[in-house]
Amino acid sequence: MKRLDTQVGIVGAGPAGLLLGHLLHLEGIDSIIVEDRGRDHVIERVRAGVLEQATVDLLIEIGAGERLRREGMRHGGIYICFSGRHHRIDFEELTGGRSITVYGQNEVVKDLIAIRCATGRPLYFEVEDVRIADFESAPRIAFRKGGEEIAIACDFIAGCDGGHGICRSSITTQRLQTYEKLYPFGWLGILAAAPPGSRELVYSLHERGFALFSMRSPSVTRLYLQCAPDEDLTAWPADRIWDELTARLASDDGWCPNRGPILQKGITGMRSFVAEPMRCGRLFLAGDSAHIVPPTGAKGLNLAAADVWTLSRALAAWYRDGREDLLNSYSAQCLRRVWRAQRFSWWMTSMLHRAPGAGDFDYRRQLAELEYVTSSRAAMTSLAENYAGFPLQ
Ligand code: PHB
Repeated sequence: MKRLDTQVGIVGAGPAGLLLGHLLHLEGIDSIIVEDRGRDHVIERVRAGVLEQATVDLLIEIGAGERLRREGMRHGGIYICFSGRHHRIDFEELTGGRSITVYGQNEVVKDLIAIRCATGRPLYFEVEDVRIADFESAPRIAFRKGGEEIAIACDFIAGCDGGHGICRSSITTQRLQTYEKLYPFGWLGILAAAPPGSRELVYSLHERGFALFSMRSPSVTRLYLQCAPDEDLTAWPADRIWDELTARLASDDGWCPNRGPILQKGITGMRSFVAEPMRCGRLFLAGDSAHIVPPTGAKGLNLAAADVWTLSRALAAWYRDGREDLLNSYSAQCLRRVWRAQRFSWWMTSMLHRAPGAGDFDYRRQLAELEYVTSSRAAMTSLAENYAGFPLQ
């Protein structure tokens, strides 16, 4: 068996694990990152794509923003569509200049992998049978790589291995309080080789359900439509998808999304989940391993970034000054932001989807809410400040 030592053992090379690794590197703190999937899988898997201002600023500040600056698409607002009309919510004007940037999560991951490799610090892909142990006293991470058994002894473990990872499930259930809400629908998402026909995102509530128009580049559109949680993708040939998207997103003045060849399609589940506290002994959970938000608020990646930023500050204070207070307040500090984002994501989701079994009253109430949200400055400001996100602190 090979034995390795490090200061912080990081499980998971998604945005949370990679970003944490680099934040620690900048503080002179050593880490090892282990990931059970392959490098290509993490880079190619298309996921969300909206970065809050604070996430963009952080990536730029740590030297991971070069391509993001060049290729990221800055948006000063979004459109909300209902009853055949598109209404713009101007984030910049309502929040004193904050904006969002559309840049795929997999692009963030690609940039962070390149930076990690440039530091020469270890990053193991395709490891098998990852286990963590003794995280109350002397934490260890064990795994197999190419048939060899490897054990890492570390001061702390960062569980950045997502909602189905091993870190959260290694904590006995009595130590965690979990909160969950399932939604009775999912999203059918496509990536299409079509130039985006709107400069900004369009969130739509239609009689037939929710739809979202987004993008990845000047030639690639990303679109979603509400479907059943267990929807059968084979029942959705390209024409049916486009007809449905067009019906739900078109405005009375003739706008509708441009069509093009579908490059990828998939079903996304909708779930709200929080595990508390986000720490057990010397194991710290960050990102999806501790919380899941439905994608309607575009918060997932941004919450992960905020968690690891908070954790890196706490670890730096511990290594530099022997201070434990920031490690002790990590969970509470993250959870304040998490619950604010949970509330916002639930609210956006409820306002914009038609739940099975909900009647005409509910639909008319939703339209009245959208009318209010797109006409009252107070309501628009509330949406804008939550969507564009709050500063890291
Ligand atoms: C995306 O572009 O994939 C996207 C945008 C906004 C969301 C969710 C996903 O709320």
